[in-house]
Amino acid sequence: MLEVKGLDKSFGAIHVTRDVSLKLEKGERRVILGPNGAGKTTLFNQLVGELTPDKGSVMLDGEDITPLGVAARAGKGLSRSYQKNTLFDELSLRDNLSLAAAIRTGASRSFFRDSLSDKGVAEIVAEVAHQVHLTPHLDLMVSEVSYGIRRQLEVGIALATRPRVILMDEPTSGIGPEMSHAFHAMLNDLPRDLTLLIIEHDMDLAFDVADSITVLNYGEVVFDGTPEAAQGSPMLKEIYLGSWEDA
Ligand SMILES: Nc1ncnc2c1ncn2[C@@H]1O[C@H](COP(=O)(O)OP(=O)(O)OP(=O)(O)O)[C@@H](O)[C@H]1O
Ligand SMILES: [Mg+2]
Repeated sequence: MLEVKGLDKSFGAIHVTRDVSLKLEKGERRVILGPNGAGKTTLFNQLVGELTPDKGSVMLDGEDITPLGVAARAGKGLSRSYQKNTLFDELSLRDNLSLAAAIRTGASRSFFRDSLSDKGVAEIVAEVAHQVHLTPHLDLMVSEVSYGIRRQLEVGIALATRPRVILMDEPTSGIGPEMSHAFHAMLNDLPRDLTLLIIEHDMDLAFDVADSITVLNYGEVVFDGTPEAAQGSPMLKEIYLGSWEDA
């Protein structure tokens, strides 16, 4: 589904991504872990198309998408959801989802006139709201809801565009343990054919949702395997300086 080969990126003298390769099968949920500054976000930005790698390629379903920008990649089903606030604060959750769904159905040009009464859009919104556990909150304004609910809404907005792969950069950062748990439950309930790549700092999230784990350290893949193998790895324990043991 998503295949990354030999990605290399430097900022001046700092070599931030070193020959990173990874492969996700359809429906796989892969978590990328690594300490602060390991290069996780830099890798993410190359996957979504915000940064051009110095070397290497990103393939989606066998197609080389390395030259494409963010919008073109999204159009091919590679969607992102992450903590940068991309929501309309003064609109309801329903309207935020409607806008995303309207773009998908091609109704965006007439969105402000009539798409809220458009049956296709309303159906997508209802389906997506259910998937991201937001049905009871649809009529609240974004400015009224917690950060945890916003994170769920961001995933909903990504889903409304009918992606094949969703990439998330530290989706539970700063939302507290209770909402993180609700967020994990939501991810685990998403359709199983959806491929997820989640960048995380926190190992608990990794073990909650991951089928597979990639660990980055100093820009390099130092582990690629199952959560069980990751938990038993002395090398990873050392990288995380003991924080691993509680996971
Ligand atoms: N635009 C840039 N210019 C120069 N250096 C950068 C740039 N972006 C990132 N870096 C450096 O690259 C390294 C990796 O940063 P990155 O943000 O990818 O790490 P990360 O694994 O996401 O860390 P965190 O867990 O803190 O989010 C850091 O040393 C950072 O200072
Ligand atoms: Mg980061």
